[in-house]
Amino acid sequence: MKGVVVDNRLLNDKYGLMCIESYEFVKNAKPGQFLMIKTQLHDYLYDPLLRRPLGICDVNLKRGTFSLLYMIVGKGTKLLSTIEKDTSISFSEPLGAPFNLTVDKRVAVIGGGVGIAPMIFLTKTLYENNSVDVFYGGAEEKDILLTYVFEKYSNNMKISTNDGSVGKKGFVTDLVDNIDSYDKVYACGPKSMLKAVFEQVKDRNNIEFEVSLEERMACGVGACLGCIIYIDDEKTGRMKQVRCCAEGPVFDGKQIIWDTVCKEQL
Ligand code: FES
Repeated sequence: MKGVVVDNRLLNDKYGLMCIESYEFVKNAKPGQFLMIKTQLHDYLYDPLLRRPLGICDVNLKRGTFSLLYMIVGKGTKLLSTIEKDTSISFSEPLGAPFNLTVDKRVAVIGGGVGIAPMIFLTKTLYENNSVDVFYGGAEEKDILLTYVFEKYSNNMKISTNDGSVGKKGFVTDLVDNIDSYDKVYACGPKSMLKAVFEQVKDRNNIEFEVSLEERMACGVGACLGCIIYIDDEKTGRMKQVRCCAEGPVFDGKQIIWDTVCKEQL
């Protein structure tokens, strides 16, 4: 699939925001899905070889545009940050399992760092039919982006940073002081953050919990098995392997076996 870059700007020296026009893509995209994007402009260039997985940050159905928030961490995203307006760019169709949307519920949306990207599309969609509180955390001020969107599309927004440069000093999970007031919690961000949210909701049967996982991905379509995680299989009661790109990236957070997902951070 191809589209035209209508805007690509640096938000600061860590993050960029790209807007692409493609009616074909936008009409099929759902909150929580992602795409694999080619960071080289020409089909004959293959360094980096692999496309990059990025969560769909927002869509504009009327204009036929969608946006991608990316953190500049390596060669691929550095190249992405240099792509100019009016350039043709190649990417996959919308991939993966989207979030399950609720109606008439009290919802908490919790995001950390670049994990906030898919939560923008999600929050805007949920706000049409639910009461939505947003909890947004980052390491420092540079990680807190696009807050005007959350201000517009939520009932309440709270911010934290580890260094206290914006919002409350500490972790985003410290902001959620009354988890029992929510029917459903959606989260995306660092795995340690997701696990901390899991600890808050795991014994509360009345609170649903959905997470979007950010795994390294090579193919993005379930073929390479490079993005395996482990969940509890309700039917067999055993541990089961699932592919983050194909069965996810959105999972029931209470089914994930967090000690296996977070093992590289332990
Ligand atoms: S990235 Fe290849 S199976 Fe998920």
